Amino acid sequence: MSENILTISDLHTSFFTPVGEVKAVGGVSLKLSKGEVLGIVGESGSGKSVTMLSMLHLLGPSGKVVGGSVNFEGQELTTMNYKQMSDIRANKISMIFQDPMTSLNPVLSVSYQLCEPLIRHKHMTKAEAKKRVIELLHDVGIEPAEERIGQYPHQFSGGQRQRLMIAMALACNPDLLIADEPTTALDVTVQAQILELMKDLQKKWNTAIILITHDLGVIAGMADRVAVMYSGHVVEEGTRRDIFYRPAHPYTQGLLKSVPNPDNLTKERLIPIKGQPPDLLNPPKGCPYALRCPKAMRVCLQYPPETQFVEEGHSAACWLQRAPHGGDAR
Ligand SMILES: Nc1ncnc2c1ncn2[C@@H]1O[C@H](COP(=O)(O)OP(=O)(O)OP(=O)(O)O)[C@@H](O)[C@H]1O
Ligand SMILES: [Mg+2]
Repeated sequence: MSENILTISDLHTSFFTPVGEVKAVGGVSLKLSKGEVLGIVGESGSGKSVTMLSMLHLLGPSGKVVGGSVNFEGQELTTMNYKQMSDIRANKISMIFQDPMTSLNPVLSVSYQLCEPLIRHKHMTKAEAKKRVIELLHDVGIEPAEERIGQYPHQFSGGQRQRLMIAMALACNPDLLIADEPTTALDVTVQAQILELMKDLQKKWNTAIILITHDLGVIAGMADRVAVMYSGHVVEEGTRRDIFYRPAHPYTQGLLKSVPNPDNLTKERLIPIKGQPPDLLNPPKGCPYALRCPKAMRVCLQYPPETQFVEEGHSAACWLQRAPHGGDAR
């Protein structure tokens, strides 16, 4: 569990728009070990997707990583060229998007879409690739795999397309799987099946997973560690138990207020917190949460908080942690 595969350090990403520079990610640092599941939560617009897209060079023409580094298995990703990055995406890191049709091409058969990368990047023969894809379809529960491999995406239901996307993401046997809201479009039963499937495959292959979700039940069921994002920053990070039982940052405490019993989460969505997040065109100079924070002190408006150690493996970017006795935990 302890072998590190990913270290994101002080990552800054901006979008250069006609109205100015949108500072979408303002200094994110995260670590991930082999086989570990990291859950990322935070309200809409907090920079969860942009952090992941920055890592994979998928920001589009106006987005740019303007600072920091991403080290994956000893290699720096931010400075890689197109070819090097394509190799990483084809062999080492896969991403599952919220909408399966983002990844599936409607006019190509499943066989073509899943076999082609194996032939191209794994240098398999056509027959080898087909055999592997049939295995993958079995793994994700699409049956009868031998027949369905010849079908087109529209012949699959929403849940089945999500499974296809997982099969596609796992085809290259990635070391890291990034799942950005992988189940929001699905009904609860199918959602549970997909998560179970991801968990099984993670165990089988020891794949590390970054799981982005608004659903605290999903986090409680899957994540080893949790990072809480707010306004382009990681404001708190710790084990699942640290975050649910001993949240240190007032933002996390606010998010979790509605959770009656963290041991028995079903489908708890994050509750919205009063007020608006800061304008990313003009971020505040102090703590980004200060204006909404019920515990804000004068220092919070003036200086950005440094990340403070709360306990072993648990940290929070909050000035309260510097107060005597480590601040108020609830
Ligand atoms: N192409 C873009 N141009 C300008 N701003 C962008 C662009 N893409 C994202 N942003 C901004 O970056 C910020 C972070 O967006 P991001 O998509 O990472 O949020 P998120 O945490 O994934 O939210 P959600 O939970 O809604 O998916 C947002 O304020 C968003 O408006
Ligand atoms: Mg997102």
